[in-house]
Amino acid sequence: MSLKIKPLTARFGALVGGVDIRSTIADDSIAQIRADFENHSVLVFTDQPMDDARQISWSEQFGPLERTVPSNPAAGSAFARQSNIDIKTGETIPVNDRRMLYQKANMLWHADSTFKETQSLCSILSAREVPPVGGATEFVSTRAVYDELPAALKQELEGLEVEHDLVYSRRIVGFEFTEVEAAAMPSARHRLVQTNPITGRKSVLIGAHAKCIVGWPENRSRELLDDLLAQTTSSENSYRHEWRTNDVVIWDNRSVLHRATPYDGAKYRRLMQRTTVSFVE
Ligand SMILES: [Fe+2]
Repeated sequence: MSLKIKPLTARFGALVGGVDIRSTIADDSIAQIRADFENHSVLVFTDQPMDDARQISWSEQFGPLERTVPSNPAAGSAFARQSNIDIKTGETIPVNDRRMLYQKANMLWHADSTFKETQSLCSILSAREVPPVGGATEFVSTRAVYDELPAALKQELEGLEVEHDLVYSRRIVGFEFTEVEAAAMPSARHRLVQTNPITGRKSVLIGAHAKCIVGWPENRSRELLDDLLAQTTSSENSYRHEWRTNDVVIWDNRSVLHRATPYDGAKYRRLMQRTTVSFVE
């Protein structure tokens, strides 16, 4: 098996060919894919029809899988379901349903699971059913933006901690958790500047769940987080993935942000299955 790597942008992202990720893969190929993941942050595989069992065994090669938060329809399983298809009935969910409002927050720039005590290494999303138009996922690099920050600001950021909160970020799109739901999801604190333990490259852990800089006044905190986000998302180094059925994309939640884009949920069905790998240092 010979892996073929084709960069997707100048700074991050790669299309990976020459491998069937549904079958058992030799250890040296896994090591190569893992190294490519650390270096490129986003890996795209095409023509890889997945079922749930295959996706789990592939995902476990990267590390332990998270269990999904109670508010997702696939709660308690290893899957975070992104879909307008009712998990029980198979019918399309009305566009104004609370479950679709919950998913609307995915259209804010974010990294997955930053609100959890244990950060995520990566997310793995497989396209099971995709609309013919719309529903792309966009990525930007928080590593590329870190590299471009002035030295004095890099020094200021070092040692800062950010509080990440899912209740806070869902509120931005008008979604309110019940008290019971909110109580089950306490916020978490993580270092603002993340250092990749393998490559040594640094990035900033920001995005929609980033509520505040710990210990800073609210205004100053909001200003810094908004500035960093604006610089990251105005970067020319973005990648937009237009999904085709059977695509599988892996992204590094420590070094990229992503967001969903709209599709016509009244007209088309969409089912994406996400597995999320914990970051165990
Ligand atoms: Fe996400």
